[in-house]
Amino acid sequence: MADRGQSPMALALEIARNALGTTAPNPMVGCVCVDNRSREIVATGWHQRAGMPHAERNALAILRERGIDPAGVTMYVTLEPCSTHGHTGACTDAIVAAGISKVVIGALDPNPLHRGRAIEILRSRGIAVEQGELAQECAALNPIFNHTIVHKTPLFAARCAITRQGAMFFEAGKTAKITGTATAAQVARERQYFPAIATSTQTVLVDNPRLTIRRQGHPVSCHTRLVFDRSGRTLERLEDLEIYNDRFARERTVFVTVTGTAARAEALLRSRGIALWALPEEPDAYWRELRERCWEAHLDGVYFECGPSFLKTLFEAGQADYLYAYCAGGPPERSPVRYFSDSARATPVLERRLGEDVEQQFLIG
Ligand SMILES: NC(=O)c1ccc[n+]([C@@H]2O[C@H](COP(=O)([O-])OP(=O)(O)OC[C@H]3O[C@@H](n4cnc5c(N)ncnc54)[C@H](OP(=O)(O)O)[C@@H]3O)[C@@H](O)[C@H]2O)c1
Repeated sequence: MADRGQSPMALALEIARNALGTTAPNPMVGCVCVDNRSREIVATGWHQRAGMPHAERNALAILRERGIDPAGVTMYVTLEPCSTHGHTGACTDAIVAAGISKVVIGALDPNPLHRGRAIEILRSRGIAVEQGELAQECAALNPIFNHTIVHKTPLFAARCAITRQGAMFFEAGKTAKITGTATAAQVARERQYFPAIATSTQTVLVDNPRLTIRRQGHPVSCHTRLVFDRSGRTLERLEDLEIYNDRFARERTVFVTVTGTAARAEALLRSRGIALWALPEEPDAYWRELRERCWEAHLDGVYFECGPSFLKTLFEAGQADYLYAYCAGGPPERSPVRYFSDSARATPVLERRLGEDVEQQFLIG
């Protein structure tokens, strides 16, 4: 089942990702149970969907099925177990009732009201608890949940592929591939994770993107695609742009514009069944209403695969909550955040190699 060199927590992280894009509004969570004597993995579980059992309960059910005594088992779980009674009852209760000997937790609950509570409860019932193993990776598994549980607004995440000097394209008006195949595979996973993917006028005109999810071994799928076009310039190529014509266009493309362009856009888009959001021209109202619309439509995370002009606007308006930067050939010469804003506060979340490239993630604000 497991890669022999892999730690139980690393395996729990991998297992959690089985539910990529399906757990909203809940987080992805993975759980691995290890026999204390033999160190063998005796049960695994992950949370599959909101309303269904949590990872810990799925793993406990396997222990029960296999007749394994939980008193000789350590449970590794990527996120602090829940201690409140939601749809499925508190996981802390289930762990205590089962009689697990020890719990190792990756990330703490991001909700300040609950953070650390499970640790107190479990310890008070005589269960050994350790926290912090692969904590950064475990926290980075759920940027959307971490944000929405605190702020109750969608996570707006900018994405950029850059050279080490920060270029996002080589020649104006020309499409160019900057990063390699490992990054392309990771971007496909992020598209699977985010319920909405955004693009902007000039990028649509130059790259003609599809923004579909193309992952090896999976059928091509598509989440909601938001096309940000204030002036309606992309409508002049309504007949030939993929995003308005592919098999997902009717259900999965939303044209996001301003009120002044709406009437013309509506006349053109109605017959194609493409949705239209007309936002106020005034910037504060524009961003406020965009967030409200996304939230109402259950688009609790937007992955902005836009060009540098749009991303700068997003940062300048204080609307970027997160940045995924994929840098070709090694770490960038300066923080990628500085390519979009001189002043935005940024906290590094994760850095890892993706083939020849380096991915850096930042929490903004
Ligand atoms: N390396 C990467 O990660 C990456 C990603 C995407 C694109 N690219 C490249 O970037 C280039 C295009 O980038 P670009 O900077 O020229 O253009 P862009 O950022 O794609 O588009 C800029 C345009 O977006 C429109 N827009 C719509 N809503 C907006 C809003 N609320 N605020 C601000 N602008 C809004 C504006 O045009 P209107 O007012 O006319 O609507 C604006 O001029 C292409 O070469 C593409 O290949 C690279």
